[in-house]
Amino acid sequence: MSNARTLALTGLKAVLLEGRSLSAVQPALMQQCPAADRPLLHNLLLGVLRWKASLHALLMPLLKKPLKAKDQDLVLLLYLGLYQLHYMDAVPAHAAVNETVRLLPQKKRWARGLINAVLRNFARTDRATRQQWLGCCASACYSHPQWLIDRLQQDWPEQWQAILNANNANPPLTLRINPLKTDRDSYMALPEIQALAPQPHPLSDQAIVLKSAVDVRRLPGFDAGWFSVQDVAAQQAALILQPRPGERILDACAAPGGKTTHLQELAQNQAHIIALEKDGARINRLQENLHRLGLHAQVRQGDASTPDQWWDGEPFDHILLDAPCSATGIIRRHPDIKWHRTPEDIAALTTTQRAIVQALWPLLKPGGTLLYATCSVLAAENQQQMATFLESTADAQQLPIERLPPCGAPGSQILPGQQQMDGFYYCHVRKRP
Ligand SMILES: C[S@@+](CC[C@H](N)C(=O)[O-])C[C@H]1O[C@@H](n2cnc3c(N)ncnc32)[C@H](O)[C@@H]1O
Repeated sequence: MSNARTLALTGLKAVLLEGRSLSAVQPALMQQCPAADRPLLHNLLLGVLRWKASLHALLMPLLKKPLKAKDQDLVLLLYLGLYQLHYMDAVPAHAAVNETVRLLPQKKRWARGLINAVLRNFARTDRATRQQWLGCCASACYSHPQWLIDRLQQDWPEQWQAILNANNANPPLTLRINPLKTDRDSYMALPEIQALAPQPHPLSDQAIVLKSAVDVRRLPGFDAGWFSVQDVAAQQAALILQPRPGERILDACAAPGGKTTHLQELAQNQAHIIALEKDGARINRLQENLHRLGLHAQVRQGDASTPDQWWDGEPFDHILLDAPCSATGIIRRHPDIKWHRTPEDIAALTTTQRAIVQALWPLLKPGGTLLYATCSVLAAENQQQMATFLESTADAQQLPIERLPPCGAPGSQILPGQQQMDGFYYCHVRKRP
């Protein structure tokens, strides 16, 4: 077992210096942390990643000269100290300084004086000075890369600031009750759940919103498959498709199976679902989730853009394409996304999305429907992508999504924070008979 701050620094190095994703490194770090310190570790990791550009703006005026490339680990150490001093009221300043200095590795003891001085000087600055430093530019103020702020401003001229603020807020934890095992009212009435102040959500009869994170494996019925963890925005996919028993459904990008399992819950476990996934490592989690929830699907490994390699020639009543995307709608849950993505990634993703939707369209029965979904808020991956598809596909007809507000272009966009949800885009298309 290691100390939460030591583990946080290890995690920050893996994410920010080695380019790994937070979701890949966080579970192992949590395992190594004493249970009582896990909330602190979670807060430090998410907090520093969320506020990285703001922490940078607070650090720069305190350094006489920037640290060398080989000392970027010290920059992370300073971010960790500054985060505690500026954003964590519960940590006394002396503890934030001393605990941070203690994290210095033996071979960097030479920096002890520097770390001490920077953090102590910062602790003495007043709020007005800090606000002035943070006001230097939009990137420091909103803690997002400038290119992403520019894109959001262009795509959402009225809402870009609300999106940036929502990306920096703590998300709720949302459960989706498995109606084949229990029901929402009974589950919410359990004393362990009552203690967490559960709220039903108006956009899904299965959703229970909890204000803050808990270890879901310790909630009643986890092993027995009474619920899944899924944001209400993601729950809209199956609710829009309304699958029925006996239908043939393709879930084209399926792992870890959040939407596959929801589709099957709504179809009373009697739909014929093919859950396709390209990444072999992610297929295990898909299988585990199906097993835990007691649901059936035929799991296949394959690339959705090359159906010749996995399709048996039987057309589908519905296709769900939860496309690989920038994930810019779920930055509040995965703040590392904003530092890892580049404008070049967005261009490459739009090409992949186009290839997949075009390859899957012929697999749909006449009269069948395809639901295109992303957890992105960028028009290039969403409205523009589907406008191009609809224009170039003679037998494609857009269906209205009555449960969500339209966005003035093809499909419906949920923006992060709206009704407590993640950012998600849906476009429902029917193949003319
Ligand atoms: C947004 S995630 C899907 C989440 C999933 N639908 C859920 O609700 O749990 C996208 C998934 O698509 C997979 N993927 C990416 N490109 C693919 C492709 N060409 N064919 C099939 N799967 C792909 C990724 O490995 C990833 O698991």
